[in-house]
Amino acid sequence: MGVSTAKVLVISTFLIIGMVLAGVLMQPKTSMDAWNVKEGDFPANASPEERLTFLLRYAILAPSSYNTQPWNFNISGTEIDIFADKSGWLQVADPDYRELYLSLGCCLENLRVSADHFGYNCSVAYFPGPKDLVARVVLQPGASPTLDPRLFSAIPSRLTNRNLYEGRAIKDADLITLQSFGLDKDIRTSLVTDSTTKKKFLDLIVRADQIQYSDANFKSELGHWLSQGSMGPTGVQAKIDQMNVVFLDNGPEQIRMDSELINSTPYLGFISSNGNDSKSQVLAGETLERLWLAATALGVSLHPMSQALEVQETKNELDKLLPIEAGSTQHVQQTFRLGYAGPVKEHTPRRPLEDVLIKE
Ligand SMILES: Cc1cc2nc3c(=O)[nH]c(=O)nc-3n(C[C@H](O)[C@H](O)[C@H](O)COP(=O)(O)O)c2cc1C
Repeated sequence: MGVSTAKVLVISTFLIIGMVLAGVLMQPKTSMDAWNVKEGDFPANASPEERLTFLLRYAILAPSSYNTQPWNFNISGTEIDIFADKSGWLQVADPDYRELYLSLGCCLENLRVSADHFGYNCSVAYFPGPKDLVARVVLQPGASPTLDPRLFSAIPSRLTNRNLYEGRAIKDADLITLQSFGLDKDIRTSLVTDSTTKKKFLDLIVRADQIQYSDANFKSELGHWLSQGSMGPTGVQAKIDQMNVVFLDNGPEQIRMDSELINSTPYLGFISSNGNDSKSQVLAGETLERLWLAATALGVSLHPMSQALEVQETKNELDKLLPIEAGSTQHVQQTFRLGYAGPVKEHTPRRPLEDVLIKE
């Protein structure tokens, strides 16, 4: 017995509404509250642990790929341990954990900058022991701040700006400041403006987009994170965005948008490292975030573009785009757009601090 078209339509409509509602109800606990942190709320007279907990309110404002926020913390005495939380690992986009460790580096950098601001001397041991322990940070109070205070002020205003960028140049002195960031002798920052490199970069992004948007696993992973509401729209809109990415062919539109973005950009940034291990990636993340905070303080916008690093075929080609002075053995760890742009309306949400604190 045949089923009428009307019945199929009714059943499909109920199924879609059911999926959307289930997805909306299951969205994780994130909110914008984290951005309401105020310097004057530092609990100067509270216990050492409470003071270190306050510093973490700045650490969790760090950027992370797909806003996965892959961190957990444990506070003990004068130490903060930063652990990798691999529960949200991007298996398709980040098979080698490069973006996960870069994101952890960004978080560590926010912790360093806020610790310095509140008078802590900070020493960091990288991967000092147990699996997933990325950094052990020892914080001694009573020190004088050493960093430019504008870096700290930039933490709550930094965000990803995906708008078209204006063609105008960044002031020479500001460019020198921004290029100077390589927080370790093995890490380099290169800002390039030449049209040949930009064209080659654009070709790699187009190729990476073609490969990613014809890969059902990639679309499913991206759709999942969009549906979590962690990268912008929440609620029903987040579910619609997920269905759009999973079921429609968005490749050509993505290529059109990415081409426009790159063509509008006066500067392309490359952060590269001598080594290519997890520690190099954490250090590259620290450098990215330091540069991002400095750029924010100068009114300059930044937009990481990772597509070409997420696809093996294009990743191999990226290292060849580095300026010669960066050295032939350098590995590109992150690429980004940099320039002046119109404002972004909203921050993205964060997991509440209590959810990322490990309770013993
Ligand atoms: C290592 C890393 C890679 C990223 N790659 C991209 C990217 O390819 N495209 C993009 O639009 N944003 C990218 N981002 C930005 C994140 O999506 C963004 O940080 C996150 O959604 C939180 O938003 P916020 O930076 O505005 O606080 C990346 C961020 C990091 C730290």
